[in-house]
Amino acid sequence: MATSTKIVLLLACCMTLLCSSLGAVGNGYQISSLNNTGDGGIQAILDVIANTDTFGPDIQQLQVIASYETKDRIHVRITDNINKRWEVPKDLISRQDTSASSSSDLFPKDYQHNNPSNQLQFFYTNNPFGFAITRPSSGEVLFNCTPSSAANFGPLVFKDQYLELSTDMPTYASLYGLGESTRPAGFRLISGNTYTLWTSDIPSITPNMDLYGAFPFYMDVRPSGNTHGVLFLNSNGMDVLYQDEYLTYKTIGGILDLYFFGGPSPLSVVQQYTEIVGRPAPMPYWSLGFHQSRYGYKNVSVLEDVVAKYASANIPLDVMWSDIDHMDARQDFTFDPINYPQSEVSNFVQTLHAAGQRYVLIIDPGIRVDNNYSTYTNGMKNDIFIKSSSGSSPYLAQVWPGPVYFPDFLNPNTQSYWTNEISNFQKLAQFDGLWIDMNEASNFCSGVTCTFLSDGSPCPSPDAPTTCCLNCNNSQGSKWDYPPYKINNAASQRDLGGKTIATSAVHYGGILEYDAHNLYGMSEAMVTNRALQSVLQKRPFVLSRSTFVGAGKFTAHWTGDNGATWDDLRYSIVSVLNSGLVGIPMVGADICGFLFDTTEELCNRWIQLGAFYPFARDHSDINSKPQELYLWPSVAQSARKALGLRYRLLPYLYTLVFEAHVTGAPIARALFFSFPNDAQALNINSQFLLGKGIMVSPVLVSNATTVNAYFPQGIWYSLFDYSQLVDAGNGSSQVVSAPWDTINVHVNEGSIIPMQDPASTTSLARKTPFTLVVAFSLQPYSLAAGYLFLDDGESIDMELVDGSSTFVTYNASKSTGGGSLTSNVTYGNFAFNQGLLLQNLVLFGLQAAPASVSINNAPSDSVTIQQISAHAVQISGLKIPVGNIFVVSWST
Ligand SMILES: *[C@@H]1O[C@H](CO)[C@@H](O)[C@H](O)[C@H]1NC(C)=O
Ligand SMILES: *[C@@H]1O[C@H](CO)[C@@H](O)[C@H](O)[C@H]1NC(C)=O
Ligand SMILES: *[C@@H]1O[C@H](CO)[C@@H](O)[C@H](O)[C@H]1NC(C)=O
Ligand SMILES: *[C@@H]1O[C@H](CO)[C@@H](O)[C@H](O)[C@H]1NC(C)=O
Ligand SMILES: *[C@@H]1O[C@H](CO)[C@@H](O)[C@H](O)[C@H]1NC(C)=O
Ligand SMILES: *[C@@H]1O[C@H](CO)[C@@H](O)[C@H](O)[C@H]1NC(C)=O
Ligand SMILES: *[C@@H]1O[C@H](CO)[C@@H](O)[C@H](O)[C@H]1NC(C)=O
Ligand SMILES: *[C@@H]1O[C@H](CO)[C@@H](O)[C@H](O)[C@H]1NC(C)=O
Repeated sequence: MATSTKIVLLLACCMTLLCSSLGAVGNGYQISSLNNTGDGGIQAILDVIANTDTFGPDIQQLQVIASYETKDRIHVRITDNINKRWEVPKDLISRQDTSASSSSDLFPKDYQHNNPSNQLQFFYTNNPFGFAITRPSSGEVLFNCTPSSAANFGPLVFKDQYLELSTDMPTYASLYGLGESTRPAGFRLISGNTYTLWTSDIPSITPNMDLYGAFPFYMDVRPSGNTHGVLFLNSNGMDVLYQDEYLTYKTIGGILDLYFFGGPSPLSVVQQYTEIVGRPAPMPYWSLGFHQSRYGYKNVSVLEDVVAKYASANIPLDVMWSDIDHMDARQDFTFDPINYPQSEVSNFVQTLHAAGQRYVLIIDPGIRVDNNYSTYTNGMKNDIFIKSSSGSSPYLAQVWPGPVYFPDFLNPNTQSYWTNEISNFQKLAQFDGLWIDMNEASNFCSGVTCTFLSDGSPCPSPDAPTTCCLNCNNSQGSKWDYPPYKINNAASQRDLGGKTIATSAVHYGGILEYDAHNLYGMSEAMVTNRALQSVLQKRPFVLSRSTFVGAGKFTAHWTGDNGATWDDLRYSIVSVLNSGLVGIPMVGADICGFLFDTTEELCNRWIQLGAFYPFARDHSDINSKPQELYLWPSVAQSARKALGLRYRLLPYLYTLVFEAHVTGAPIARALFFSFPNDAQALNINSQFLLGKGIMVSPVLVSNATTVNAYFPQGIWYSLFDYSQLVDAGNGSSQVVSAPWDTINVHVNEGSIIPMQDPASTTSLARKTPFTLVVAFSLQPYSLAAGYLFLDDGESIDMELVDGSSTFVTYNASKSTGGGSLTSNVTYGNFAFNQGLLLQNLVLFGLQAAPASVSINNAPSDSVTIQQISAHAVQISGLKIPVGNIFVVSWST
């Protein structure tokens, strides 16, 4: 042992020497002056140790500020000491979202820790400069870029267009996050991979490539279960290299701005992280319903037909969607006069509204260049389009409507322009939400500058709209188009500005697209959210394809263009978990697959899984066969059962939306969120949790009628079929049956789940009586708890206000002679005024059926007690107002 340690050290030494002597990208910095700040942090000036010229000259002097911002958070900021550099704007990411924080202590158990001292500690070295972050309570080193550790990697590099920082990464760390990509290998990051962050219109059928979003955040779970998070708040293109024993950030601009979150649980990490990037937006209640969409709904009668067929098949449907089919010549804010006449659309939407259903339609950011199009002329009048590098004229691109300019959502004048366009459009068709697509931004032509074809030929050709029809010229490319370090975007198959806005293009105030590219979708989501809020005077629903960390504050998300394959079905779980981890919890994948023809069996299994995505939408491509759920009897049957359970779970899901909004917690969570000490839970990619205690274990392969599922510790009861019980002991894999119309959904001991009755829409479901499902362990003495949040589902704010919302904490206990359930209500008036009643209690895990039941200590004779399975007893006929504080007790 001793010998090999020496050898390792020796090797490490050599490698450091090799690195520096072989012309590493930089030689590092040393501290030239330093002040200790009161909180234990430092402010220091660094000087470059020796100049290098790879990727440009070194910035000579840097400023470092390391501060203990809270007991759980350390912020290390390194930038040029002389010249101001690009940073993510504070309007997009405030760095201190306190909007809903006062309610977060309603969820005490998983989030609070009573550690009176700092959870994290900062260390530094002088020459070369480096730093480390540790967790003093355990002695764990969480991040370490001091030179003593730099055996495998080079020193800190800071150039105008190339910044590099590395840390040790023990092989036993489990990392999650970093970029948006389709990950066949699973949720946990794989060492040896490079994660590239560059928002791109690349379909999600493409594995292991930078897709639509950019998430420079990772969570790190250590074997102790202690978890921390690292946010690198930088919007420039970057590669993150995860190697066997280290991790390296290589970014092409901005500053080194790192936030370390001490956790120590996964939930507390997301809580601390979303305080910086922004808490997830409240979602309207209806958005938890089932959504039906398709690119290729030819006309309004087809939409009407789909709605009617859902109704006659008895499958719930809340929202109908329109892709670009409704547009006149594919222009935003217009209706096709032949197939989607405005008056017909408006009548259709009114019919939907009368049935408690909603309508969402698409807009793309590219505005057609056409003097006869008011959205264009208004944009020119307001001067809100992104300019080409010359600065004088807007940057010309091509998307679905042909030649387009892109609104600059970083320009403060764009808000009123965009709100005005949305307002005028809303008057025409009374839609309820907006879908913002193509906002990476996608461009069918690539060019530093593009001009119209000199022959003035029409563009695009209707047969080949995605064929570039502009005259594009790349020979004027600058260092912003062709930076010295080339990130691995599109696996190096594209230039930085390939298939998007040229990176030398210019935003308001001289901001370069080079710096702001990754923020385009998020900035559109912010402006669209505010526009909808002001137009509807209701809680906005926005669905965005491109996102950045913090976009959850403004938008829901879907995983983009997947395919109708079993692999895509499987990968969708990890994509959904990843979005929730980075603070965008309202997320789903296109159910039954977007590209390619689906099959009956695949669509059947997909609706079973998709019914439990936070955002549940069936969407298909114009070139694929239709895939509405009523088209096959087997799929319709599965949809009724799976969506039936989803609609019964709406109060639970909506409470999770509230929990996400006030604490950042994902709605769909990896198993390790509830079981961080369970080593197996770190590697589960085919199951997930909804909230703390519901687990979904879908069938993900063809021709299977069983699932080999992992059950973390405890007793799990089937919510699908109350008779099934799985005793997982300390955690074990179990084969559970999954007939064609069945998905396994289990509730863990210790949970109380508020449910209602199924219905064809969320508006009907939310009026039905409540059932509380209480899952006790099989021990003689056992506790369970749960929560319920209620409000009108569409007020702009989702918060606790007397008369407008209700929050209930449920606690239950049982012992040998009986047990009780307590409802502790905060602001009961809302639930009371709605006349909402608790009808049923389903009690799992009782040793014997109750002989008698009391409500608030008075014996109740009007209730019915029924053993509904070997493990479940139902007490029905309670008729207790949900808004009341009460105790139901039973004795056996
Ligand atoms: C340290 O503090 C002094 C006095 O406030 C100030 O002049 C100096 O610039 C500070 N140095 C650094 C590195 O922040
Ligand atoms: C709508 O489109 C469908 C499918 O293409 C077609 O069969 C039908 O005739 C059209 N209806 C109207 C009113 O245009
Ligand atoms: C201008 O647009 C209007 C309405 O969209 C249309 O009726 C008219 O034909 C267009 N004129 C030209 C010259 O394209
Ligand atoms: C592209 O731009 C260069 C530099 O301005 C110019 O010399 C060249 O003629 C242009 N090419 C085309 C095809 O427009
Ligand atoms: C499906 O399973 C059945 C029985 O388990 C088997 O006979 C059949 O060959 C399988 N079909 C496919 C396509 O794998
Ligand atoms: C479960 O873990 C506990 C504590 O680590 C141990 O005492 C017990 O024997 C384990 N039970 C099983 C069934 O493995
Ligand atoms: C109710 O349950 C919550 C969550 O487990 C717990 O924090 C709280 O202490 C419990 N309250 C009572 C009175 O048992
Ligand atoms: C009920 O909730 C209030 C405030 O949320 C809390 O102070 C009180 O201890 C709770 N009571 C019980 C019995 O849980």
